[in-house]
Amino acid sequence: MFDEEYRRRYVFGCDYGTSDFKYGPITQGDKPLVTANRGYFPEKSIVSQILGAEKDVVVGKDVTLFLGAGSELSTRLVYPMRSGTVAKDDDRAWRVVEEISREGLAEFKPSGFGFKGFYVVAALSATAPRYMYEKMFTVYEKLAEEGLIHSSTIIPQPLAVAIAHKQTSCVVVESGHGNTQVAPISRAPIREAIIALNRGGSNANAITAEILKDAGYGDLVKEESLVRKVKENIGLLPLQLDKAVNYAKNHPEEVRAVYQPPGTRIKIDLGRDSWTRFLIGEYVFDPNHEIFQSYHKRGMPRPSDTKVGDVFFYGTLSIADTIIQSVEKCPTEIQPLLYGQVILSGGNFSWQAPAKLRNIAVDSQTRLAHELREKGVEQPVVNLSSDPQYAVWRGCIVFGYAVPSTYGWTWDKMEGWYHHRR
Ligand SMILES: Nc1ncnc2c1ncn2[C@@H]1O[C@H](COP(=O)(O)OP(=O)(O)OP(=O)(O)O)[C@@H](O)[C@H]1O
Ligand SMILES: [Mg+2]
Repeated sequence: MFDEEYRRRYVFGCDYGTSDFKYGPITQGDKPLVTANRGYFPEKSIVSQILGAEKDVVVGKDVTLFLGAGSELSTRLVYPMRSGTVAKDDDRAWRVVEEISREGLAEFKPSGFGFKGFYVVAALSATAPRYMYEKMFTVYEKLAEEGLIHSSTIIPQPLAVAIAHKQTSCVVVESGHGNTQVAPISRAPIREAIIALNRGGSNANAITAEILKDAGYGDLVKEESLVRKVKENIGLLPLQLDKAVNYAKNHPEEVRAVYQPPGTRIKIDLGRDSWTRFLIGEYVFDPNHEIFQSYHKRGMPRPSDTKVGDVFFYGTLSIADTIIQSVEKCPTEIQPLLYGQVILSGGNFSWQAPAKLRNIAVDSQTRLAHELREKGVEQPVVNLSSDPQYAVWRGCIVFGYAVPSTYGWTWDKMEGWYHHRR
């Protein structure tokens, strides 16, 4: 029979992101472990074949050991997700998903008797097609046979965030590395009203790279991980772009960005170009200002409208407009409730707001509340998750803890615990 105490002890959350996989059991507390969601397929070497240590795919920290491989890299290094979706027939991508899940679970597998596998709660993009659920359960079936999983379930990422915040009526805006999902929730996500953007932290990286090139640091932009660090440390989100740029040009010293990546001799000083810091955050929220034209003209790709599977992703719609469009697809009666509880999550909302730049550079919730009011929403309430990168994972844990094992998975509702054969 089902042992509810067992389930609660062994809840395990898995948040599959485009750039990072966040994972860990309930005992992790507030923070999951994080590893890059990618795998490296090494060349088969005769030596390791003889020694029997051949691995077809390497994930986690060990990937770093292979990153020197130069031109080989692009074919051997696989990031399995594009806009939160793994292509159906991409066997190598699914192989990465399997291995990253296996190693994540194995890391926490308790030794000794009595362990019958984890209760895994996986979070996938709200736009993930049904085949991803099927494939995911097939992967988990294997891991169940290996004793790592007892039961599993899959929930949409925005629902996980709503659960982490204990909100039943809200709009969740989840913005990660690859994309942004806006999902109104009234007990469950209102599917017809979900809108996705083909824009996330990677686009902020792209403009950061251009800014670095223009400032004379072109040799640094080859490394995406360095560009990302620079972005996270010097990028700013303006309350209003024109005002912020003006302010920066009149007070260059106050806005001046200097950044030294830890452990290196590199020193980045944007000097007189420091006003460009505001472009980085702005581009995430609204890439439509004419100032971005010159970057697009010089070759920085514009975020394009795209279709992934059956789902349409807008390229350049502002986040505020996306929220409004999404809410307006919901019954008018619940619209005030939804605007009254907008929750922001995902690492792409982590913009810092230095105290000395008050009302010039702001955090994500201040910016969006302001923009929604400007667009005529009367009393928007916008809340930024604490540790926004981990909100989805936290929701997975709360969900796994709360849902009884007797509530089995059904394909028509797409919810409940999937009990694996063992
Ligand atoms: N302080 C910061 N300022 C700006 N951006 C940040 C900050 N911290 C993290 N980010 C960005 O957040 C993004 C990662 O967020 P997250 O982990 O939520 O994405 P993901 O889950 O991997 O991707 P997705 O949800 O799109 O599939 C990266 O682009 C990262 O650079
Ligand atoms: Mg994510």
